[in-house]
Amino acid sequence: MNIDYTEKIPNNVGLGDHPSLQRALEHWQPAFLNWWGDMGPDGSADIDVYLRTAVSVDPAGWANFGYVKMPDYRWGIFLNPAEPDRRIGFGDHKGEAAWQEVPGEYRANLRRIIVTQGDTEPASVEQQRHLGLTAPSLYDLRNLFQINVEEGRHLWAMVYLLHRHFGRDGREEAEALLERRSGDPDHPRILGAFNEATPDWLSFFMFTFFTDRDGKFQLCALAESGFDPLARTTKFMLMEEAHHMFVGESGIARVLQRTCEAMVQHKTEDPAKLRSLGVIDLPTIQRYLNFHFSVTIDLFGADVSSNAATFFSTGIKGRFEEGKQADDHLLKEATYPVLEVSSDQIVTREAPALNTLNEKLRDDYIRDTLAGVGRWNKVMQKNAIAFQLTVPHKAFNRQIGNFSGVKIASDGRILSAAGWEANVGTWLPTEADKAHIQSLMGRVVEPGKFANWIAPPPMGINKQPVNFEYVRFN
Ligand SMILES: [Fe+2]
Ligand SMILES: [Fe+2]
Repeated sequence: MNIDYTEKIPNNVGLGDHPSLQRALEHWQPAFLNWWGDMGPDGSADIDVYLRTAVSVDPAGWANFGYVKMPDYRWGIFLNPAEPDRRIGFGDHKGEAAWQEVPGEYRANLRRIIVTQGDTEPASVEQQRHLGLTAPSLYDLRNLFQINVEEGRHLWAMVYLLHRHFGRDGREEAEALLERRSGDPDHPRILGAFNEATPDWLSFFMFTFFTDRDGKFQLCALAESGFDPLARTTKFMLMEEAHHMFVGESGIARVLQRTCEAMVQHKTEDPAKLRSLGVIDLPTIQRYLNFHFSVTIDLFGADVSSNAATFFSTGIKGRFEEGKQADDHLLKEATYPVLEVSSDQIVTREAPALNTLNEKLRDDYIRDTLAGVGRWNKVMQKNAIAFQLTVPHKAFNRQIGNFSGVKIASDGRILSAAGWEANVGTWLPTEADKAHIQSLMGRVVEPGKFANWIAPPPMGINKQPVNFEYVRFN
C-alpha cells in the first residue's frame, strides 16, 4: 500500500489505470492550489515548515518528516487497504458484501454525506487562515500548518470519491467545495460551526479539541459504511484526526498550566490580576469551553431525525464502534432516551432508536469529551488549585434540535429571556474576554520561545527538541 509519489497526484488507488478520472482530478488540482493560495494560511507561501507527509498507509511507517513549502505539499489520495470479503455490519443489508460501487438508490444520500463531510475540511482551513500571524511559538505554528495541510488532504479524499463514483454531479460538487467560504453570508459553508470565526489561539485549541473530535465521530460512523471506498478513506483520515485533537488537548493543557503557575506564584485567583499578568484566567477558559462545546454538539444534528434512520437502515452510515454494540444492528424495536422540553422542564423520553442515532453519536462524543476535560482538570489538581472545568448541560446554547430557541442555563435550568440576558456573560465569552484574549495574541518566532500565556510543551515533534526550528522564514 505504498504511495506513488512519482505521479502528479500521489495516490495508492492506481489512478494511472483510470485515465479519464486522472485527467478530471488533474483539472481540479490547479483549482485546489488556487483556493489554497487565496484561502490557505496567510503569508505562508514562502516559508519552510517541518511537516509530516504520508508515505504509506501502513500504520508502522506512514509518516515522513521534513521541511516543505506548503504550496509544494504533496496532497494526494490514500485509502486504507481493502479488507478481503468485507461485509456490511448493520441495517437492512447486514451480512451482504460491502459495495465497491454506489448503489443507485442511495446515490443522492451518499453524495450528500460526502459533500457535507468534504465541506468541513476547507472550511476549517479558511477559519484558521490568519492564526499563523499570531502564533505563540514555532512549535505551535508548525502544528497549525500540519493541521491545515491535512485538512486540505481530507478535502482531496472526499473529492476523489466524488470524481470516482458520482460522475458529472460529483465533479460539480467538487468545484462547489472550492467556492463556498466560511462565514460568507452569501455563500457560507454548509454547517454552522464551520462558519464561526477562529480569531485567536484559545479558540483554535478549543476548536481542535471539540470540533475536530466531532470529525472523529463522524468519520468513525462513516468508517462503518457499506460503501467500502468511503469506509477505507475515512479510516485513513482518522489517523490524521488524532493529531488534530492532540494539538487541541495539549494546547489547552499548556494554557491551563501557565495560568496555574501564575496563580500559584502570585497567590491569586482574581481574574483581573491574572489578566494584568498576561495570562488567561480559568473562568474565561470555561466560557470558551462552553461556547465550543455547545456549537459543536449541534453538528450532530436534530435529536430525532428520519434522515439518520434512513442512513443507518440503508447501510451508508453506522454508529460509533458499530462492531462493539451488543445488539442486533438493525434497531427496529429498540428505543433510546432523548431530552425534550415539556411544560418548562427538561424531561427524558424514549424514542425509536433508529430515529435517535444523531443523539446516540452526540452522547458517545460527549463521553469522549468528558474524558478529555478530566485530563485537563489534572493540571489544576497537580498545581493544587481547586478550580475544575466542566462541560455545560447538553441543552445549553443549542441552535439545532429540541432545545433550539429555548433559553437554558449552563446547568440545565430553563430561563426566561431576561434570565438568559442577565447571566449569559457568565457562561459565554464576553466582549471583554475576547478583547483580553486578542490583546495577548502576538507572534513569537524565536526557536524555543513561547508567548507568556502558554507553557512550553513537554516534548517536541518527532523526537526533535522543543527549541527546534520547526518553521524557517526565508
Ligand atoms: Fe479533517
Ligand atoms: Fe481535523
